[in-house]
Amino acid sequence: MSTDSNRIESVASIIKESRGIVSLTGAGISTSAGIPDFRSPEEGLWAKDPSKMMLFTDVGFAGNPKGFYEFGREILPGFQNARPTLAHRFLSRLEQEDSFGLKCVITQNIDGLHQKAGSKNVIEMHGGLSTGRCTSRTCPKEFGLEDIIRRVEEGELPPLCPECGAVIRPDIVLFGEELPGGAYQRAVEYLKHCDLLLVMGSSLVVYPVADMPEVAMGHGARLIIINLQPTQYDSRADAAIRLPLDEVAEKLMETLGMAV
Ligand code: OAD
Ligand code: ZN
Repeated sequence: MSTDSNRIESVASIIKESRGIVSLTGAGISTSAGIPDFRSPEEGLWAKDPSKMMLFTDVGFAGNPKGFYEFGREILPGFQNARPTLAHRFLSRLEQEDSFGLKCVITQNIDGLHQKAGSKNVIEMHGGLSTGRCTSRTCPKEFGLEDIIRRVEEGELPPLCPECGAVIRPDIVLFGEELPGGAYQRAVEYLKHCDLLLVMGSSLVVYPVADMPEVAMGHGARLIIINLQPTQYDSRADAAIRLPLDEVAEKLMETLGMAV
C-alpha cells in the first residue's frame, strides 16, 4: 500500500473516532469548481499578479473601485456558475450523518459553495459574495450578486447605488476591515470544543484564521491537513496529505462507507 493510501486510511480512522469535528476550509476546496485560489504557484490570483491584492484592501477598494470591478468582471461569472465539488459534498455528508459528528464548517471562502452543497452550520470568516450593499453609511440599500454582475457586464464600472449614487460593494471582508460581527468568537467556541480540526485547501497564512489550528490543538484537538502545498502546521499535524481534495474526499467517502 502506498504512503498516501496509508495516510487516507489513517485519516478515515481518526474521523470515525472523532465526536466533535470542525472543518476549516480555504480557496483550495473550490479550485476544481473553476474558482481560482490566491497562492497556488501557477493559477493563484495573487501569485499571478500580486498587485491585484491591493484592490482587495479597504484603502485600495475605496481609491480604485473601478479597478476592483474591472478585475471583478473577469472573475465574478465564475463564482456565479460554480457548483459544489466532491469535497464540499463530503463535508455536508459528515454533518448530516449523525454517526460522524461534524459540528461546523469555518470557511474563508466567499463563494457560498458549502451552503449550496447542503452544509447547514457554516461560519463565513470573510463574508459572502451573494449579496452587496451601498457604501454610503446612511443608505440601507442592498443588492444581489446577479444585479451586481449585470451592472458590471453592462459596463457600469463601478456599479452605483440607484438611490444615492454611492459605489456598491460586495459583502466580503477586504484586508484592513473587521471580520463580520461575532464570526471569530463563534468560530473560537467551536474550536475550543472540537476533538478534530480538518483543514482543507488553505495555505493558513492569513490571520486570524491562520491561528485557528493553534487554538484547536491548544484545547486538545487532533489536526488533519489536506492541502497541495505545505503549510506551517504540517509537521505538527496528526496527518498532512498533499493530494487534490476531490481525490482524497472520494477515497474517504469510500472508506467511510458513504455513497459517492
Ligand atoms: P490560498 O490561495 O492562500 O491557499 C489555497 C491552498 O489550497 C493552496 O495552498 C493550494 O496549494 C491549495 N489547493 C489548491 N487547489 C487544491 C486542490 N484541488 N486540492 C488540495 N489543495 C488545493 O487560499 P486561502 O488559504 O483560502 O482573503 O486564502 C486565505 C485568504 O487569502 C482568502 O480568504 C482571501 C485571500 O487573500 C481575503 O481576501 C480577505
Ligand atoms: Zn445608496
